[in-house]
Amino acid sequence: MSFPTDFLWGAASAAYQIEGAASEDGRGPSVWDTFSHTPEKTFDGHTGDIACDSYHRFEEDLEALKLLGVKHYRFGISWTRIFPDGRTFNERGFAYYDKVVDLLLQNGITPWVTLFHWDTPQALEDEGGWQNRETARLLAQFAGVVAEHFHGRVYHYFTLNEPQCFIGLGYEAGWHAPGKTLSGAPLLTCWHNAMLAHGMMVQAVRKADPSAQIGLASCGLGCVPERESEADIEAARTAMFSFGAYGNFTLFSQNAFLDPALFGRYPDHPFFDSPEITKEDLAIIQQPIDFIGLNFYNAYVVRAGKNGPEQVPFYRGSPTTALRWAITPTMMHYCTKFIYERYQLPVYITENGLSCNDKVYLDGKVHDPDRIDFLQRYLRELKRAGEDGVDIRGYFHWSLIDNFEWADGYKERFGLFFVDYQTLERQPKDSAFWYRSVVETNGENL
Ligand code: BGC
Repeated sequence: MSFPTDFLWGAASAAYQIEGAASEDGRGPSVWDTFSHTPEKTFDGHTGDIACDSYHRFEEDLEALKLLGVKHYRFGISWTRIFPDGRTFNERGFAYYDKVVDLLLQNGITPWVTLFHWDTPQALEDEGGWQNRETARLLAQFAGVVAEHFHGRVYHYFTLNEPQCFIGLGYEAGWHAPGKTLSGAPLLTCWHNAMLAHGMMVQAVRKADPSAQIGLASCGLGCVPERESEADIEAARTAMFSFGAYGNFTLFSQNAFLDPALFGRYPDHPFFDSPEITKEDLAIIQQPIDFIGLNFYNAYVVRAGKNGPEQVPFYRGSPTTALRWAITPTMMHYCTKFIYERYQLPVYITENGLSCNDKVYLDGKVHDPDRIDFLQRYLRELKRAGEDGVDIRGYFHWSLIDNFEWADGYKERFGLFFVDYQTLERQPKDSAFWYRSVVETNGENL
């Protein structure tokens, strides 16, 4: 068995992580500009001011995509280039994205646009950011303007990238911009506004371009069975959708996003008991969408215990990535399957990859056998998901090139291409050539 013949292979990035040009052509500051310029918030004070300078070097990123042979590219459009303060329209902000989209199309590469990858305008944050419902309305307005602008050129959109992270890490844990530490009702308000933004964005994009396909990119607790037994598989499934029962912070759960977006209800948990959540709001959030995007990195291992699912601790010295994230390949099979069974929509892996301690070797090349080994393991399991009946349509590797890894700055390297931050040159790692052969053979070589 292999991947379906029309399976789509791609690579992914996000605006703030690669673009740089932080104050060019009228771009306004986002919460990440403020946060990264605040002492001690990011590793060594790294900022996205220059990042990979993709704003001036998209042609080089395009060469990278061409070398991989991928026919699909997922990238972000920065909200504050088009609406610098969240409200005032800046036509010049489109010039760069026009070039990106046109060059992609000329080269037979389909653009997949992420409408929100965490860059809330600072001006809106000053008014409360995600604590303020107005942020949702304005983000939807931006989404509609983008879809109208690219009508006839872009057919695939993602609304929010990982509310689990931009609310969970940004407003609950405080590790990410804007660095708030809320809990209870104020945290729920942020979450609910993000969910409303998703629904309103779907409506706005559909209105602007009825031919567009639209989905979301979700993350959160993944659970895999310890053994391939019915009991452990069932335990993993139950644990994965047990909101608030596992993990470090409240909102790191797939169904916190997917249940309201697709079922029009929040998980059954006291966190969501609030008069703020009305039937009318839930109807806005629950919009028909075309696909689910999953950002998959690592999972918990779970087994059936006497009193329900039990988390199995990782054994000492078990394999991890450079970021110390556990390596759990079977999530590509099980977690994709659990999501598909529950929500019954086509699934794309919109992010998957790892950070390695990459460097240029004496022979001038970047050898990254850890990445190749990781991907081989994960992609084999993804293939299994397809064989197991999951409607899995495509895979976007995270990331095309090394980039600004949020609070970890440039310390972490997720790219298939190495970026030398002194010269900004891109160089294919061994994994880039390896991934090219996966794309070429549609995964036959796995
Ligand atoms: C995010 C990316 C990030 C990646 C690796 C995801 O949570 O969408 O922006 O770089 O994971 O941490």
